[in-house]
Amino acid sequence: MDKKIDQAKEKIKCFHIKTYNDSETFRIQFLGKKKGILTILFKELKQTSIHERKTYGKIINELKKEVKNKIKIFKLKNDFQNEKILKFDPTIPGESIEIGSRHPISLIKERIITLLTRIGFIYVDGPEIEDDWHNFTALNIPIYHPSRDMQDTFFLCKKNQEILLRTHTSSVQIRYMKKHSPPFRVLSIGKVYRNETISSCSNFMFHQAEGFYIDKKVSFSDLKQTIHYLISSFFGEVKIRFRPSYFPFTEPSAEVDIYCNSGWLEIMGCGMIDPKVLKNVNIDSEIYSGFAFGLGIERLSLIIYQMKDIRIYFNNDIRFLKQFKSEF
Ligand code: PHE
Repeated sequence: MDKKIDQAKEKIKCFHIKTYNDSETFRIQFLGKKKGILTILFKELKQTSIHERKTYGKIINELKKEVKNKIKIFKLKNDFQNEKILKFDPTIPGESIEIGSRHPISLIKERIITLLTRIGFIYVDGPEIEDDWHNFTALNIPIYHPSRDMQDTFFLCKKNQEILLRTHTSSVQIRYMKKHSPPFRVLSIGKVYRNETISSCSNFMFHQAEGFYIDKKVSFSDLKQTIHYLISSFFGEVKIRFRPSYFPFTEPSAEVDIYCNSGWLEIMGCGMIDPKVLKNVNIDSEIYSGFAFGLGIERLSLIIYQMKDIRIYFNNDIRFLKQFKSEF
């Protein structure tokens, strides 16, 4: 009996289970109902004395446990490997993931930020949901002013027309000037909203860039120089014209046109900040003066990319959008 047990022990130890088939062969070899090595030993046990049966029985039972454990460990390891393979199968042919591209509006926004921060402007963001005071009143557009009609917008509360979607980024001027003392040069870019019918050249939402500069002795020639720098960075040496215009918050005011495809194209509004606006934000207009300009990003990008319809920017057509790479 001792010898047989030792042999069985050795065989169990030396058996290497590599596959499921191996584990089955292993099980049958030791625990098979008829010819299993341990099954036979159990049968032979019956012919031994009670004393021997007790000691040998214990040892053979240990061996049985060992066989079962060995099978269990193999199965656990094997299942784990299979699961890993299911999750990551390096043999599956790779699919190329298309990397998106920057939206043309974002490209131009970034370009403007780069250009203006280079000449000392800092970039700030402002809220799209505004109150009447920041969007209109503080900018010298009182409640019955006709220019409010041109900037009709979306009011967020039916009863109280105080809270609205901003119609221009000029509201950021007020927010910034209220909190900071001059001198400062600030740029803000973001979405603005107007009650407009959607067409090839207008939308209820578009993007504006607002720049303003306040210091002692800021003059109209500083404004002209800044705008000349901005436009020539985009278009090279183009003809620019400052056409007199009117905005309630600037005095004097001008519209800037560029000469393009044998015609003049309006590209932005600008002017010297009206002393009344400075007074509204507690800046002494006897000491400080400043300029501001507001530029439509969609308008600019139509010219840069030579397109005719702004709706294409917002249709989410991947074929259109993926053409844009930063050229700047
Ligand atoms: N806020 C004006 C608009 O939306 C543009 C502007 C900005 C004009 C700053 C003058 C100065 O039309």
